[in-house]
Amino acid sequence: MSTPRSPSPWPRAHRALPLLLGLLGCGAEGEKDVSGDEDEQVADGGGAADGGAPTTDLTWHQDIAPIFSQSCEGCHGATGGGGGLDLSTPERAAEWALPIAAAVEARRMPPWTAADDCNSYQGDFSLSAEDRAKVVEWARAGAPAGDPATAAALPPAYTPPVLDRVDLQLELPVEYTPDPGQPDDYRCFLVDWPWAEDAWVTGTHIRPTNEAIAHHVITFLIPPEDVATYEALDAADAAPGYPCYGGPGGDIDSLQTMRWLGAWAPGGGAAVYPEGTGLRVRPGSKLVQQMHYNTLGGPGADRTVMDLRVETTPQGWADIQPWTDVRWVLGVGMDIPANTEGVSHEFRYRAGAGDRFAFHNAALHMHTMGVSASLHVEHADGSETCLLREDSWDFNWQRTYALTTPVNVTPGDEIVLRCTWDNESDQNAAWGEGTGDEMCLATTYITDSWPED
Ligand code: HEC
Repeated sequence: MSTPRSPSPWPRAHRALPLLLGLLGCGAEGEKDVSGDEDEQVADGGGAADGGAPTTDLTWHQDIAPIFSQSCEGCHGATGGGGGLDLSTPERAAEWALPIAAAVEARRMPPWTAADDCNSYQGDFSLSAEDRAKVVEWARAGAPAGDPATAAALPPAYTPPVLDRVDLQLELPVEYTPDPGQPDDYRCFLVDWPWAEDAWVTGTHIRPTNEAIAHHVITFLIPPEDVATYEALDAADAAPGYPCYGGPGGDIDSLQTMRWLGAWAPGGGAAVYPEGTGLRVRPGSKLVQQMHYNTLGGPGADRTVMDLRVETTPQGWADIQPWTDVRWVLGVGMDIPANTEGVSHEFRYRAGAGDRFAFHNAALHMHTMGVSASLHVEHADGSETCLLREDSWDFNWQRTYALTTPVNVTPGDEIVLRCTWDNESDQNAAWGEGTGDEMCLATTYITDSWPED
């Protein structure tokens, strides 16, 4: 099947909204710093007897190291990727005991925001309720190390997925040093697509060379006919690349045809598309690499690389399909009134006669007023499948969740997207690209319908 075609969940003209995902660039309102200022919140932790220090039988070597190995060290290993914080030794973990208790209890860490009871996902590094309780108890009791001689066996550490094969490496055209004068530097770089024949991308892995300052990366695929639009943006800015916040720039026409090719957030690894499927790239295309740098991570330069697994034989049809209500995008029907909590809006799409496809992953997107969001399928037979639900939305931790088992959609099924916001400001909000605006959007990797097993 060499000709991409659409399962037409949307009217054709509106099928290209992934551009709006550019807004996914993390908010400018600053990072939590990692200086451990959470102490007050946990000072009266459980286990304290008679007002004394909390006590515990749990120790690093016997109980905690196996949990950290699976759920923390992929990001907080000796190389210190997660905010520069190394939690791989009992000494370092003990120094951070109180911030650890606070972050784990509040479920801020590990940053896995999908609801437990929605679906199951590949590479799940979340903590069970039992492990969460153990970590909090141990950390509040001063993070005792215990006896290394009787250390529990460590389960295999979770490490982000990698590609089994790299056919093409595309790096930023230059090494870039973000402006240290501002905490957030959003910048887009045009990258040539070098192949002279049709190609199908079957896996991607974005690798910032300086994870201390790279906060978020989104890769957009620009078809050949729109390349000139982006070259003009690049040429208009004297420095390398060009500034961009809401997406790769471009005009209304080019925004209709561009596609999302990949994304990276801290702890992110390779995205491997389902066997036999891929995203088609035509010769003469370009990529726009949208970088969000955060200079609080220190001064320095970066030259992000994108590893790609590419096939030159046609692959099964696939697309990164966005879901939202087109009326919202046009400014109708997604009002979020000032000073109002718990405002919800819902979008439903009923699969028509020709709509047979399978969901393989899902990501949700709102801005900072977002409280919760969900994407689910109401099947024609009355059953329901939750694809992704986030009960405490965190703008800083948007992630694509790869389903363990694909979910088929057949005619008569309804796809339901729901978002809830708290608007504590004095301004009404609606769809838009600014920081005071909002969005309600899901993106999904879809293919032709999938065999059940
Ligand atoms: C997917 C990557 C990732 C994983 C997994 C992860 N962290 Fe983090 N963590 C980060 C990053 C990045 C930061 C830097 C601050 C931020 O961006 O929120 C951070 C910050 C922290 C902080 C300091 C800031 C705060 O929020 O209190 C603590 C403590 C922490 N992590 C503990 C943990 C523990 C304990 C685990 C495992 C149970 C864990 N983290 C798992 C990425 C991760």
